[in-house]
Amino acid sequence: MQIARTLPDLRSAIASLRKTHGHIAMVPTMGALHAGHQALVHAAVASGAGVVTSIFVNPTQFAAHEDLSRYPRDEAGDLAKLGASGCHLTWLPDVETMYPPGAATMIDVAGPASRWEGAARPGHFRGVATVCARLFGQAQTDKAYFGEKDWQQVQVVTRMVTDLLLPLEIVPIPTVREPDGLALSSRNRFLTPAERAEACVLYAQLRAAAAALAGGEAAEAVLARARAALAQHGFDVDYFTLVDGPSLEPLDRLQPNARLITAARLGTVRLLDNMAA
Ligand code: PAJ
Repeated sequence: MQIARTLPDLRSAIASLRKTHGHIAMVPTMGALHAGHQALVHAAVASGAGVVTSIFVNPTQFAAHEDLSRYPRDEAGDLAKLGASGCHLTWLPDVETMYPPGAATMIDVAGPASRWEGAARPGHFRGVATVCARLFGQAQTDKAYFGEKDWQQVQVVTRMVTDLLLPLEIVPIPTVREPDGLALSSRNRFLTPAERAEACVLYAQLRAAAAALAGGEAAEAVLARARAALAQHGFDVDYFTLVDGPSLEPLDRLQPNARLITAARLGTVRLLDNMAA
C-alpha cells in the first residue's frame, strides 16, 4: 500500500492508480479504524477501482466545546488495517495541506443538514461538507464510499454533490454492528462496561419501532414508547424520530423511504443510530 502525505505525492499516486485500475474510489475517514470503516474499504476494493483512503481528523467539523484532542489517533494501527483490507493508497494530509493559508471557501448545506445533528452540533456539517469537497477535489475520485451509520452525513454529502454537479458518485454502505446490535463507532471505547452492556438497547428500540410501524401502529405512539424505554435504560435521548430518508424532514406516518434516526447519550458518550422504517 502506498502512502501520500503531500498533494504532489497524492496526485502522482492517483495518476498511476488510474492507469492500472481505470477509475478511483475514495473512503474518507478520521482514522481510529474499525470493522465499519473496513467494510467501506472492502466494498471500494470489490468495485475494482483504485482505492484511496484518507485519514484526517478534521478540525472544522468539531464545535468549540467538543474535544478535538480527545479524538483517538492510531496511525500505525490504521495503516496496518488498511493494508490488510486491500486499500491501494492512504492519504494523510496535515492541517496546512487541507486548509492552506488564504483558503476562504466553506460549504454550507441547508435542507438535509438543518435539523438533528445539524441543530445539535452547529457548524458540524459545514466542516464535513467543506472537507469532503476538498478531499474529492484533491483525489479527483470517481466514487466516494460513506457509511449509513451516519445517515444524515451521507444525505448531506449526496445533496452537496448533486447541487454542485461534482463529477463523482456517493456510495452508501450498510452499518456494521457488534453481535448484540450496537453500531461500531470509535466512540464506543469511551463507554464504561455497564454502559456498554446497556448500549445495545438503542438498536433493540430501533428494531422494535420499525416492527411496530410496519404493523400499522401510529408513529407518535411508537416513538414515544421508544423514547420512554431508552430513558428507563439510562439514555438521555436527544431525538428518536421518523424522517424522510433523503431530506431528513420529520414524518408523522410511515411512507416510502422513511428512516428512523436517533441520537442518545449514555454517560458521556453520544450514540447515533438509524434504521429503514
Ligand atoms: P469517521 O467517523 O472516521 O467515519 C468514516 C466513515 O466510516 C463514514 O462514512 C462513517 O459513516 C463510516 N462508518 C463509521 N462507523 C461505521 C459502521 N459501524 N458501519 C459502517 N460505516 C461506518 O465520518 C467521518 O469520519 C467524517 O465526518 C468524514 C466523512 C471523514 C469527514 O471528515
